[in-house]
Amino acid sequence: MRLWGGRFSTEPDRLVQEFSQSIDVDRRLYRQDILGSIAHCRMLARQGIITAEEAAAIEIGLKQVAGEISRGEFTFDYALEDIHTHVESRLRALIGPVAGKLHTARSRNDQVALDTRLFLREMILETLDRLADLQETFQERAAAWESVIVPGYTHLQRAQPVLLAHHMLAYHEMFSRDAARFQDAYARVDVLPLGAGALAGLPYPIDRQFVAEQLGFAAISRNSMDTVGDRDFVIEYLGAASLTMAHLSRFAEEVILWTTSEFGYLTLSDAFTTGSSIMPQKKNPDVAELIRGRVGRVYGHLMHLLVTLKGLPLAYNRDLQEDKAALFDAIDTLLPCLMVASALLQSANVDTERLASAATAGFSLATDVADYLVAKGVPFREAHALVGQAVQRCLATGHDLATLPLAEYQAISPFFDESVYQIDVRRSVDARDVPGGTAPRQVQLQLSAARQATAALRAWIAERRRRLPDLTTLDIPRPQS
Ligand code: ARG
Repeated sequence: MRLWGGRFSTEPDRLVQEFSQSIDVDRRLYRQDILGSIAHCRMLARQGIITAEEAAAIEIGLKQVAGEISRGEFTFDYALEDIHTHVESRLRALIGPVAGKLHTARSRNDQVALDTRLFLREMILETLDRLADLQETFQERAAAWESVIVPGYTHLQRAQPVLLAHHMLAYHEMFSRDAARFQDAYARVDVLPLGAGALAGLPYPIDRQFVAEQLGFAAISRNSMDTVGDRDFVIEYLGAASLTMAHLSRFAEEVILWTTSEFGYLTLSDAFTTGSSIMPQKKNPDVAELIRGRVGRVYGHLMHLLVTLKGLPLAYNRDLQEDKAALFDAIDTLLPCLMVASALLQSANVDTERLASAATAGFSLATDVADYLVAKGVPFREAHALVGQAVQRCLATGHDLATLPLAEYQAISPFFDESVYQIDVRRSVDARDVPGGTAPRQVQLQLSAARQATAALRAWIAERRRRLPDLTTLDIPRPQS
């Protein structure tokens, strides 16, 4: 049973059926499709567009279809194009011609927009939960490594020592902004499209507000052409997902670097590494490499849909069907990456001794020596040049700043005295006691702010979840009136 065909004299070519079908992809939306149909048919009955008996028969039939699909008893057929047609066709087989009334005052154009929005709402909450889990892992590591000092880098050259907790919380900040982007996108997904019809609205006395309430939507869309013609809400998810993947990838890259024997700062548990089929000594960070390796895939989907949208005349065009494959694959890429990154970090151990010596090496306290001269009244620019000379003397004599003889220092500037040897990594870190700085006190403040932010995020997710209908049971509470 095709949903169209009256004006056609032949069936579509087999090749066309295979080429244009979306059932391979959109079958994943069967629960959303059926839930939306239940809400729609209840509204039709409430408005007197169909009878209460017809609505009841349709609803029972729809739930039966859902059961068949979930039990794997359902046969999919390319001739039936998409999930909407499959559900309706099976409904007709189960309950007879009354099934044909379900599609009154509806088009597949607003139906598919509804299914996608119902799906994406759930997926944004799922994504946010995984992000909150990951944030908690970073918090937990920041607390566990609160006194560990590591070299901080710029240009991948040793720059200044920082707390490892500070480094961990830098990622936390990125993931917090990612979460905020998904939360922001949620508000624009949480809008009912049904009632737009094919593009112009519908000539029936429908009650869109009632449908929105049943499905837990915060608002109804304002313009029917925009409603069926845009997919910016999908692109927003892909944009937020792309940035999240970028952040995950930077983290993965650092794990890869830090576990090399050249760095040797980090070791991963055997359960999170893999071996080589030829080199018996190898323990490879494949998990991190795969996170890094999957980023392009999500960027690709973002680019795909941006390009898809840019040339489309209003309103619906079949090009829009391509949104779902892109969205599903992005979600199926992002969610496991979030989970695996969290588990990977939990499994990591740091080599504190190696980090301690690395943090001091490479003249990483040179800025502190300049600051020492500044405290004695030397202008910073001059102090910078003087310490540059001291570094040059160290390089010429095989010393570092902690062992360069006082005579050498004093030959450079009379402001140097014995107290220059008191400069060390701990003091260097402690001194950066400004908001956002790496001093332990500041990092503790960051950590408690981070914990509060994640708790607030969890509460936000829980509050949204309470408003959503249950896609598993497909039960929608009946209004009292
Ligand atoms: N499978 C279609 C999609 O995903 C459903 C809407 C079809 N509408 C149409 N007029 N052919 O976009």
